[in-house]
Amino acid sequence: MNENTSPNEPALVHGGQLGEMAKRYHIARQNWLDLSTGIAPISYPVGLIPQACWQRLPQPSNALLSAARHYYRSTHLLATPGSQSIIQILPQLCKQRGFKAARVWLPIVGYQEHRKAWQNADFITLDYTDSPDVNLIGQGDIVLIINPNNPSGKLHTSAQLTNLLQMISVKNGLLIIDEAFMDATPEHSMAPLLSANTTHKQINQDALLILRSVGKFFGLAGIRLGFVIASDDWLTLIMHALGPWSVNGPAQYVGAQALADKHWQHAQREVLNNLSEVLHNVLTTIFNVPVQGTTLFKTLLTAHAPALFDALCKQGIYVRLCDEGNALRFGIPDEQGIERLRKALGTKNIRDAMK
Ligand SMILES: Cc1ncc(COP(=O)(O)O)c(C=O)c1O
Repeated sequence: MNENTSPNEPALVHGGQLGEMAKRYHIARQNWLDLSTGIAPISYPVGLIPQACWQRLPQPSNALLSAARHYYRSTHLLATPGSQSIIQILPQLCKQRGFKAARVWLPIVGYQEHRKAWQNADFITLDYTDSPDVNLIGQGDIVLIINPNNPSGKLHTSAQLTNLLQMISVKNGLLIIDEAFMDATPEHSMAPLLSANTTHKQINQDALLILRSVGKFFGLAGIRLGFVIASDDWLTLIMHALGPWSVNGPAQYVGAQALADKHWQHAQREVLNNLSEVLHNVLTTIFNVPVQGTTLFKTLLTAHAPALFDALCKQGIYVRLCDEGNALRFGIPDEQGIERLRKALGTKNIRDAMK
């Protein structure tokens, strides 16, 4: 059971459930190609971790905060044990900050843990398709943007979001931007707006809250590390809600190194750009249907998604069948993985699944 799941409520299905797939398809775990998540196939190389990181209670780390401030180009941030932990507590915190009766605008397609958290806290949720219609946003509304969106890949430019933020700010609302997949396109991040030396006339800094995740681009989902970027008032509230020691010592140590390592980040962007382009070409050539996505995943829109999912699983390739059943999301394979995928997609099994 997921920790935010009540006994009667099924956990949401995400990628990464390899053990379950191994059982269902009778293929040993080590024989799978797991492309079910948007986590980079190449991880930041974690070297030796000093013994003290394991032995001591983790205190806030200046090395981590300083590396994060440079990396995100923002002075207002707080380390978290991953974005999921914040997604779950944000609705209650919003109630404490006076958003008790707010309506919450959510993208129809997107990481569904957001919807679940707001609905569990009895907020009224409203859907938008690509971008929220500014004419419909009311006084005190909360708007969530996943930028770029997972799984659609839709990217909102910072100019578009600045306009939206101004409007929401005037209406005393809140704009939450989940930038879990932003690392490959940092020029579109809104984080620099929340900086000590940024003064934007029409923006109330309390109206913006950004979530960043270290797990995806750095391939470090296991250490559970992320950041909230927001005004001091928001950060204080979140810090108290998380309590002491919420980010463990090894995560702080590895995170500080990864966020400061510009050389590795540059190389990682290049590798991901190349691999994602190869994957894009393989998918468009074979399926001849639209492929969307980011450098961390590609999403194939097809009515045959459930049959293709099953046909790939039978060959030990685990992708993500999107919740709507009309798309498959492929994590980016490494070079070996791409060859295995290319071969698998050329088989009769796959052609049959397309009929
Ligand atoms: C859009 C989005 N936001 C947040 C998360 C959670 O990320 P984290 O690992 O930082 O908890 C995910 C996980 O897949 C995601 O897809």
